[in-house]
Amino acid sequence: MDILKGSIVLTLESYYDFAMKPIIAPEKDQPKSFSFSKKHKKLIKEIIARYPEGKQKSAIMPLLDLVQRQMSETTKKGGGWIPRAAMDEIANRLDVSPMKVYEVATFYTMYNLRPVGKYNIQCCTTTPCWLRGSADIVKAAEKELGIKMGQTSDDMQFTLTEVECMGACVNAPMIQINDDYFEDLTPEVMQSLISNMKKNKLPEKGPQNGRCNSMNIEGPTSLEAEAKKAKVV
Ligand code: FES
Repeated sequence: MDILKGSIVLTLESYYDFAMKPIIAPEKDQPKSFSFSKKHKKLIKEIIARYPEGKQKSAIMPLLDLVQRQMSETTKKGGGWIPRAAMDEIANRLDVSPMKVYEVATFYTMYNLRPVGKYNIQCCTTTPCWLRGSADIVKAAEKELGIKMGQTSDDMQFTLTEVECMGACVNAPMIQINDDYFEDLTPEVMQSLISNMKKNKLPEKGPQNGRCNSMNIEGPTSLEAEAKKAKVV
């Protein structure tokens, strides 16, 4: 696929380099075709029906997510990702240009455009997490896994991805592993999360320092009666 940018014609792959977007799988790893499973074809109809007539392109995001989940279920090793053929299939189904789908898929880091590990560890390094020690969390993960940020382990078990703020700054520093948040981390906790995953045990999600959600670790400091009523203390 060629992209016209100013007077320069770029290939899709060189566009990703140019725009410094996430790494796309090389041609040799791209499947020639993609079809949705029977179960997902049924779901696609329901998803498209959520949007008003003529606004079907709003379904691009949920369909990209569906592809990633289907790939995760069918890939023998590793987690879910989105091949180019799947983006073209979405464009075809929604009657939009393939570029519209590429634009969305390359903008959000939650869409993996190359094969990733079974555990995709997304490390937030934006300012609040950074101020609370995200650099040490990344260092601990790299050391424990023997890979660098952006890399995948040879056994396809782990990928380390750098992401921007995931909206959980109150529990900084935090990471996301696949669909779940792990918060209030220290380098020691990060190491222990990884050694558990090496034994195929995904630890309990949420704050890792014992506090309830984003509540003060000492307990509620206001609305105490309400907190008791809601059974959070
Ligand atoms: S800065 Fe990390 S979650 Fe907001």
